[in-house]
Amino acid sequence: MLWTLPVLLLSVRLAVGWSASGDVISPVFNNGGGMQRLPDAIIIGVRKGGTRALLEMLNLHPDVEVAKAEVHYFNVEDHYKRGLAWYRSQMPFTRTGQLTLEKTPGYFAAPQVPSRIWAMNPGTLLLLIVRDPAERLVSDYTQVLHNRLARQKPYQRLEELLLHEGQVDASYKALQRSLYHRHLARWLEVFSKEQIHVVDGDALVRDPYPELRRAERFLGLPARIGPENFHYNSTKGFYCLLEAGREKCLDQSKGRPHAPLGGLAFRKLCQYLAEPNRLFFNMVGRTFSWC
Ligand code: A3P
Repeated sequence: MLWTLPVLLLSVRLAVGWSASGDVISPVFNNGGGMQRLPDAIIIGVRKGGTRALLEMLNLHPDVEVAKAEVHYFNVEDHYKRGLAWYRSQMPFTRTGQLTLEKTPGYFAAPQVPSRIWAMNPGTLLLLIVRDPAERLVSDYTQVLHNRLARQKPYQRLEELLLHEGQVDASYKALQRSLYHRHLARWLEVFSKEQIHVVDGDALVRDPYPELRRAERFLGLPARIGPENFHYNSTKGFYCLLEAGREKCLDQSKGRPHAPLGGLAFRKLCQYLAEPNRLFFNMVGRTFSWC
């Protein structure tokens, strides 16, 4: 077996069952002898990158248990103040040898998070799922739009938020979240490259299995997820999960039609993103076919 750094760190953690922070937290057991543990691995983002799909798909693995809800422990001060015992209480019950996974997309762009995760456990494995950052921005806007419509709040068109006097407005929050190189640079000040596995979110949509296999390998898991776990649902237009013969698709907020953005504005966005994308490719040592 090839002992990569993440596999080694995880193996040590699984073997001795340490609480990496050094905090003494009394164990909580359930009837089946399972126990809540701090996460071994975290999906840190990106928002709208396919984080839910990745979490649910990894959950197909018998050695993985996931926190179903986003925990927002490291990025929300009120939560962070509650301490690691609270964080652990948000985790699923696992048996010895099973891996605990949580996902909070808000971690990726929050400056305080990398050092906080490191302080909890410097061996934490990190998964970052990225997608074309222009499409991500439109998806991000679409989500905010849906939320505002649901609460009967006023909204602006995407073009109004994205462009100021015909130029891309660098202060638009959804644009800033698409500047992956900026955020990743902060993580790499704290974690090694080997500890951060980049998942191609566009490839996960087209064909989930190869990305899942790579993620299994990164997490040091035996290959248990196969192509038979996925079924393309032509009504939804996405792959759905198959478990014990039952199909489970992600909810309707995932894969919904995007809000419109004019062709010229989209091209300006792509031009703006060309350099940030190039910097990100250099950081991760691979390229993606983004706009
Ligand atoms: P869109 O709604 O823009 O298509 P997140 O879970 O991080 O919010 O990401 C949502 C995105 O996951 C969706 O964005 C969708 O493209 C993507 N996705 C990836 N695989 C999917 C799947 N099997 N079913 C539904 N959405 C999926």
